[in-house]
This record gives sequence, C-alpha cells and structure tokens, in this order.
Amino acid sequence: MTESATAIIPTPRARVQAMMEYHPPLGSRDALRLDFNENTLACSPKVREVLGRISAGALTRYPEREPIEAIVAAHLGLAPAQAALTNGVDEAIHVLFEAFLEAGDELLLPVPTYTMYEVYASATDARVVAVQAADDLLFPFERLLAAITPRTKIIAIANPNSPSGSAATRAQLLEIASRAPHAVLLVDEAYFHFHAETVMDLIGTVPNLMVARTFSKAYGLAGLRLGLLAGPVELMRWVRRVLSPYSVNSLALACLPPALEDTAYLDWYVAEVLAARAEFEAALDQAGVRRWASRANFVLVEIGRQHAEFARLMRAAGVLVRDRSSDPGCDGRVRITIGTREQMRQAALALNETLATRRAGNEAQ
Ligand SMILES: Cc1ncc(COP(=O)(O)O)c(C=O)c1O
Repeated sequence: MTESATAIIPTPRARVQAMMEYHPPLGSRDALRLDFNENTLACSPKVREVLGRISAGALTRYPEREPIEAIVAAHLGLAPAQAALTNGVDEAIHVLFEAFLEAGDELLLPVPTYTMYEVYASATDARVVAVQAADDLLFPFERLLAAITPRTKIIAIANPNSPSGSAATRAQLLEIASRAPHAVLLVDEAYFHFHAETVMDLIGTVPNLMVARTFSKAYGLAGLRLGLLAGPVELMRWVRRVLSPYSVNSLALACLPPALEDTAYLDWYVAEVLAARAEFEAALDQAGVRRWASRANFVLVEIGRQHAEFARLMRAAGVLVRDRSSDPGCDGRVRITIGTREQMRQAALALNETLATRRAGNEAQ
C-alpha cells in the first residue's frame, strides 16, 4: 500500500467522533462477582438442559424470533405486536433512541442512572437533560416534572434505578406520562423481579408508555443477551423498522421458553437474594457503613475518599464490587451486588476485613 493511499480514510459522523468509547470494567472476574448486578449463581437447570440439546443443524438456520416473541408476549399479558425481543435491554434502548431522537430533541434523565442511556444518546443529535437527585438519591419527581419541555422526546427512567436502588411510584410514572404526552416514557424494569412493582399492565392504555425488561439479572442469562421492549403498537411499529431482524440469536430464543416456565427457580432465586439483602444490610449497619435503601439486587454504600482503594482491597479478598464514584452525585460511593446468603456472608467478612485494614493504614499515617 502506498503512503498516500493510507492517508485518505473515511470519516464518521461528527457525533461519533465526539463520542467516548465505552468499555465496561470487566477484566478478570474469577472471583465473587458483585460488580455487575448479574445473577451470581446460575440460570434455571431447565435452560441448561435445553442448551445441551441444541443440534448443530439448528445452528445452520437463521433465528426466527416471532414464535418466541408471541410466547413472551402472552406470558406478560401483551399482544404479540406490543412486544419485541432485543439483544439485551441495551439494544432496546439503542433502537428506541435511534427511532425517536433527532436534532433539537431532549432526552430527559434522572441521574445518577444507568450509563448506557447517555452513551446511546450521544450517538444521536439530541441533547441530554440530566436531572440530579438529591443526596438521598430518591427519585427526583418534582424536579423531573419541572424539566419537561415541548422538546422533551424521551424520558428514560430505570425503575428501580441503578446505582441508587430507589424507585419511582406507579402514580409518579403515570403523572409524568400524562404531563409529557409528546414524549416517550421508557420505564426500564431491568430489576423488576426484586421490586415486584410494574407498569407493564398499562401498556396500550397509556399511549406514550414503553417498558423494558431483561433476562440478564434474575433469570441469570446475561451472556445470552436477551431483553424485551414493550409498547403500544403505534410506537412499536417505528422501533421495528430499525430493529435488526436477527439480533436475538437462536440459542437465546431456544432458552426463553424454559426460562419463563421455570417460575419455581426464579421465585427461589429472588427470595434468596431478598433474604441475603436484608442480612447484608444489617451487616453494613453494624459496621457503621452508610447505605441507601434498595429495591433491587444491589446496594450502594458510602466509602468516602478511599473508594478506589476499597474496591482494590475487596478484589484482593476475592470479592468484586463496582466503584460508582464517577457517577453524578456519587463521589465516594460503591455499589455491591447482592447474591445468595452464603455469598453475602463471605462479602461481609471481606468488607469488615477491608475496612479494618484501611483503618489500620489510616492510623499508621
Ligand atoms: C437499569 C438497567 N437497564 C439495562 C441494563 C442492561 O440490560 P441488558 O443486559 O439486558 O442489556 C442494566 C444492566 O446493568 C441496567 O442496570
């Protein structure tokens, strides 16, 4: 290749040039994984059975999502046209933003919240309007209402929210939907199973409401990348135009019916996590660590100035946690996923040891 040939390369859109590359801090995770809010154990054994039976021949075919979409829709009390399977909720967010956000539009977000809303918004020509929660990290309802403008096009609310664990009420969500009829209200129910409150039943009756669900958390299928976007048919038709027809692969599709059917496994896992959360919260209180009340499978804690050192020491003790200090209003705060009671007893031990090591280090200084 000549020098002049290498000098001319195509340039991407200006928006993309300004974007930051997002790398989740995964790295080596051969430890107790309390950093990404995944299921910390396994998916249902029924899903594993189905996976083991998938033939090589089945992999030669393009995936057919519609029959499975109909099964999931029925499971959620929706019409098939009201539900689309996606490659994780991340793809649901991506296609929704792609379909609706254009120059001059505003994406309204209570913050701190899930990082990918801002990442996908930054690829569009819309403006992000962030509404900061107070120090209690409760849902900033009044401030959010006040931030609605005629340009608001999407309002994205993770419910329960991450990393705070707090939740908006159904009445608050309904009020927001009615005060912004010109905007899509996306309620991201990734952590629904731990919260048990939903607005999914309002799909189709509230004309601008859309709901996302994931199979990455309670179901334990983060590696398969399975999500769902639900909404009124009038909005779903635009989303389907930009949704890639094969983005949900055939392994994921095959695993969905057994995952949905095995409600006993799901109920067991959720009950285990909730019991573990109560125990772990008591351990945090005993250790004198400030924490925020959580409606999900994680808890946000105040570590202070030495947050990075804390995360490093916890990793050295075999427990991965997620430093959220760079989130707006979260300086010094670390998020810890809740697993089983046994795992959380191990985490509490590591936490107490880490805090003691840190205290000893501070006193020696
Ligand atoms: C609020 C929220 N939405 C969506 C996701 C991503 O879900 P998925 O794995 O289905 O893409 C996460 C993952 O952490 C999340 O916290």
